[in-house]
Amino acid sequence: MAVMGRNLARNFARHGFRVAVHNRTTSKAESLVRDFGDEGDFTLARSLEDLVGALERPRRIVVMVKAGEGTDAVIDELVPLLDEGDIVADAGNAHFADTRRRHDALAEKGIRYAGVGVSGGEVGALEGPSIMPGCDGDTYAELGPFLEVASAHVDDEPCCTLIGPDGAGHFVKMVHNGIEYSDMQLIAETYDLLRGPGGQEPADIADVFREWNGTELESYLVEIAAEVLSHTDGDTGRPFVDVVRDAAEQKGTGRWTVQTALDLGVPVTGIAEATMARSTSGDTERRSAVREALEVAQEPAGAEVSVDDLRQALYAAKVVSYAQGLDMVRDGSAEHDWDIDPADLSRIWRDGCIIRARLLGDITDAVEEHRDAPSLLATPTFAAAVADRLPALRRVVTAAVASGTPAPVYSAVLAYVDALRAERLPAALVQGLRDYFGAHTYERVDREGTFHTLWAEDRSEVDAG
Ligand code: 6PG
Repeated sequence: MAVMGRNLARNFARHGFRVAVHNRTTSKAESLVRDFGDEGDFTLARSLEDLVGALERPRRIVVMVKAGEGTDAVIDELVPLLDEGDIVADAGNAHFADTRRRHDALAEKGIRYAGVGVSGGEVGALEGPSIMPGCDGDTYAELGPFLEVASAHVDDEPCCTLIGPDGAGHFVKMVHNGIEYSDMQLIAETYDLLRGPGGQEPADIADVFREWNGTELESYLVEIAAEVLSHTDGDTGRPFVDVVRDAAEQKGTGRWTVQTALDLGVPVTGIAEATMARSTSGDTERRSAVREALEVAQEPAGAEVSVDDLRQALYAAKVVSYAQGLDMVRDGSAEHDWDIDPADLSRIWRDGCIIRARLLGDITDAVEEHRDAPSLLATPTFAAAVADRLPALRRVVTAAVASGTPAPVYSAVLAYVDALRAERLPAALVQGLRDYFGAHTYERVDREGTFHTLWAEDRSEVDAG
């Protein structure tokens, strides 16, 4: 019954569902019923036994606790009280591997388990989040109707659908959060370029974002960037953004995305750089030591940065980072046999969640029309969108480099597009080096097979296949 749990419970109750609420510290559940009891039909459960006793069968229990050991502790306490067929749904930000483990362990006891990704922050939880459930089909048949009603809606379509079995929902929520990291870092880099080389004040930059929110960049994060940038600190009268310590924190979902992407071998360079940028920002001691030690002979000359280039670059970079995220979902789904439909994701991310954006409607159309395209960047709409904006993206990265403004996500996504477009990559030399020092072998462009060069002998080539 912290804010997310409270708001989700109120959301269910406001939709006419009878909701029993329980919290380890009873006063929190009591205050919910006291303050919002008139919003719906709540039953206060002072113990887990009371909670279990209050529910109709099969019981549908939504657990909203801090992910990790807390979730296991609640499950351990709850499961002995349940009956076969009951459903436990974890709506926290659990690691998908934990969800798979819990699903399998509970299945042995006849208890059905759902790993439910919920995005939208506290307002979303109350007014309609985007919901990403991972569970078996029969579990969804019992649980889905409640979740769908409580979710955000676009044109009467719920922003909630069965993603796939066991860990699929939490996997997708993890990637959503990874994209959230790169979206936010791109907005931050854009701000930095407008402020440094662009010479604008936070309030002016807020106006730029506000205007952009009426364009193809329309999104929740661009909207709230304008709000945060136009806010003035009550104590000092300075721009709020100037009184906040510049060290971005993280609870772990971005890091998990990158770790998992490395295991899958899928390049999510935008998300990775955004996650690393948070780590760099928080590395205060090293930052100040290097700042003092590094005497640079020539400071960067500075560079012009155009607002219109930044608008185009931000759109292109967002597209690339969404493309990378969708690639990761595709590869993860194949690895775990989840059969996730990427078009479902862009559809349920159109509203309710933190990364909601006008762009997601177009992504849904492109993915549906070109199901076999190996990348969003290979679909006609987005290939053209990125190609058109590539010169602007390149000018933005050039300006960042020339002015010494760190723009790791812009730089990474540009390098990724350039790599995908390149006829030849220097990976051939990497293969040569690997073969030289470790006889790791290589393939040739002109015939089938695996080869090794006898580097230490006469440098003749032998068939290694
Ligand atoms: C959401 C958010 C949410 C997440 C916060 C904080 O979709 O509603 O992703 O689930 O917890 O954004 O994440 P960090 O602390 O890692 O930034």
